[in-house]
Amino acid sequence: MRLFAVINQKGGVGKTTTVANLAYALAERGKQVTVIDLDPQGSLSASLGMNTRNMAGIDEVLMDEASINDVMQVARENLYLVPAGKKLAQIEQMSEGSSAQAKRLNAALKELKGQDFVFIDCPPASGFLVISALYAVQEVIIPVASEYLSLHGLSHLMGTFNMFEKSLGKTFKQWVVVTRFHTRRKLAQDVYHSLIEHFPNKVLSTPIRETSALAESPSFGQTIFEYRGNCNGADDYFSLATDLLEGRTL
Ligand SMILES: Nc1ncnc2c1ncn2[C@@H]1O[C@H](COP(=O)(O)OP(=O)(O)OP(=O)(O)O)[C@@H](O)[C@H]1O
Ligand SMILES: [Mg+2]
Repeated sequence: MRLFAVINQKGGVGKTTTVANLAYALAERGKQVTVIDLDPQGSLSASLGMNTRNMAGIDEVLMDEASINDVMQVARENLYLVPAGKKLAQIEQMSEGSSAQAKRLNAALKELKGQDFVFIDCPPASGFLVISALYAVQEVIIPVASEYLSLHGLSHLMGTFNMFEKSLGKTFKQWVVVTRFHTRRKLAQDVYHSLIEHFPNKVLSTPIRETSALAESPSFGQTIFEYRGNCNGADDYFSLATDLLEGRTL
């Protein structure tokens, strides 16, 4: 079972879009995939068209009130969703520093059976929820939008990983995904090239192009493959799934 946290404290870089579409692409290839909505905003559930507003979710798992298998929902064939749950926002605010609590997610994921891939959709923050995710995973996916200032936050984020690696004595496999890529903009090209230069062997081969259908599909509760299977966004996420399976990087 490969466990991934999709992380970037910067908002709107494509974390949720990447979780939903990458997970679907892998599920379609017959992999068993679980996605966890660790963002109190619950946008992952909404993106998948799942009305989970009144359902228990990862919130109760983190509070030791439910087991992860009890709160898991079937989202598609081979694809399961653990919703956020109403109390997740409170948990992010209340839980400060208790490492026993931050390890609960790690323990909960061990109860999952028969899964090939787990993706955790993190909130744009670096608090308790993200720390919990870092305790639980071996691999991190960092979506980076190819725009000005993207690189700034990134060195901060890499610093957080390094700190965490030292204190836990573990090493994360880090993958960078270039998102919202405007093929013809010079700025996007510049960001792209400096990512490859700064993070050799970490940037997954396929940049995800800016595609209007990718922005539209969540409001229909559909992945890009269901909403418009023949567009750049669908091609890119399909190819990104292969990158991840084969470890293809630039
Ligand atoms: N490649 C793309 N082309 C066009 N629109 C995109 C693309 N990727 C993401 N978007 C859109 O950009 C917005 C932000 O994306 P998304 O919600 O995935 O980011 P996020 O990092 O999860 O944000 P947050 O930090 O708020 O959770 C959404 O409206 C999404 O539909
Ligand atoms: Mg999100």
